Amino acid sequence: MSRPIEIAPSVLPVDLSELGKAIADLDAAGVDRIHWDVMDGQFVPNLTFGPDVIASARRHTSLPFEAHLMVLTPDAMAAQYIKAGCERLIVHAEACTHLHRTLGNIRSLGAKASVALNPATPASAVAHVLDMIDMVLVMTVNPGFGGQSYIATMEPKIREVRAMITAAGLDGSVNVEVDGGISADTVAGAAAAGATVLVAGSALFRDPLGLAHAVSEIRSGAIAAAQIS
Ligand code: DX5
Ligand code: ZN
Repeated sequence: MSRPIEIAPSVLPVDLSELGKAIADLDAAGVDRIHWDVMDGQFVPNLTFGPDVIASARRHTSLPFEAHLMVLTPDAMAAQYIKAGCERLIVHAEACTHLHRTLGNIRSLGAKASVALNPATPASAVAHVLDMIDMVLVMTVNPGFGGQSYIATMEPKIREVRAMITAAGLDGSVNVEVDGGISADTVAGAAAAGATVLVAGSALFRDPLGLAHAVSEIRSGAIAAAQIS
């Protein structure tokens, strides 16, 4: 069963002095969800969005919000980001001593739970929690900053995660997302390997033909690649 391709823009590159307008512009450009790259300055050497910032943007779109929690203490923060309007929390396997319990806590709070894997983290890290999550995020950069180069050597891991989900009979409920260096030039490799949710940041904002064109280019590139894979 092929899952629809979804475009999830990272909010990192937007003009934060006009956050509400930026979110509305992304919605108008045809994206499918909003991807908030939350960073605590400890798990990664950068500091970004608190829950109040996300809450302030909530009224500017009805699109789903997901929080990519690049934080050392996801258990302590989960409830705040759900209250701020995030329907999905993406925690890093590397930050969770008790990943199974963390995912259970997120679900008990009424949100969807997903797991992110840094480039060096093996796919096996999610082998025993696939039944608890709705998405695996395979990082295609080392987290912390936008504008980095896509790490193509992650494609075998994307394929491996997709195969694990298929083998578990969960193709209908678990997505594979990629995040980092995604553009019209790199999306084909990720989509052919099985990614169906594509986080893009800088590629959306550097397109001279505008956001909608950039979104459309990435989406059509992913669809074309997925069909021939
Ligand atoms: C890294 C961030 C970035 C960002 C996407 O921690 O998660 O991957 O969302 O940025 P680009 O698309 O510019 O690589
Ligand atoms: Zn992200």
